[in-house]
Amino acid sequence: RDEVERALSACVIDVVDYPQPGVMFKDITPMLADHDAFTAVVTALASAGRDEDGNVIVDKVVGMEARGFILAAPVALALGAGFVPVRKAGKLPRETHAVSYALEYGEATLEIHQDAVQPGERVLLVDDVLATGGTVAATRELVESCGGTVHAVSVLLELTFLPGRETNPGLTVTSLGTV
Ligand code: PRP
Ligand code: MG
Repeated sequence: RDEVERALSACVIDVVDYPQPGVMFKDITPMLADHDAFTAVVTALASAGRDEDGNVIVDKVVGMEARGFILAAPVALALGAGFVPVRKAGKLPRETHAVSYALEYGEATLEIHQDAVQPGERVLLVDDVLATGGTVAATRELVESCGGTVHAVSVLLELTFLPGRETNPGLTVTSLGTV
């Protein structure tokens, strides 16, 4: 816990006006470069994939391109679960499900391999930031298209001035920190 707080306060750097004026970018790369901080973060993110007794209750961990990959893959290893990438359009080579969603300007499409999650499997979603919730909502749709269910969502940071939770009713969201 203390280590997670240190990871967020000392190892995530606020960058003003990036990538555009008025936006405060959360740079997590110093946290990734600090073994103790990264370990604490991965362990904390993974706890959403366990029950009260510590038993693993998910089959797959899904990470969303690109920053979600960095966190979700070690979480999957920590849980002894499989890792599944959800990618931006056109990157996955075999048959996919695709979901498009609105961005502030324009539209984005995410894809999953159709056989990446098996019917009935339970999935933990892991990403760096929950903002509007559009990425999580689209990813949930993809998992459900495969016949899986999203057990929970774990994010490093939640932007509480945006409606990420409201966009995802009925979903259990755990964030390690808020902005
Ligand atoms: C960022 C962030 C989350 C998403 C959150 O990803 O990494 O995935 O936005 O925003 P939302 O809740 O409003 O959907 P981005 O699409 O910028 O791409 P990246 O991870 O490839 O940097
Ligand atoms: Mg992202």
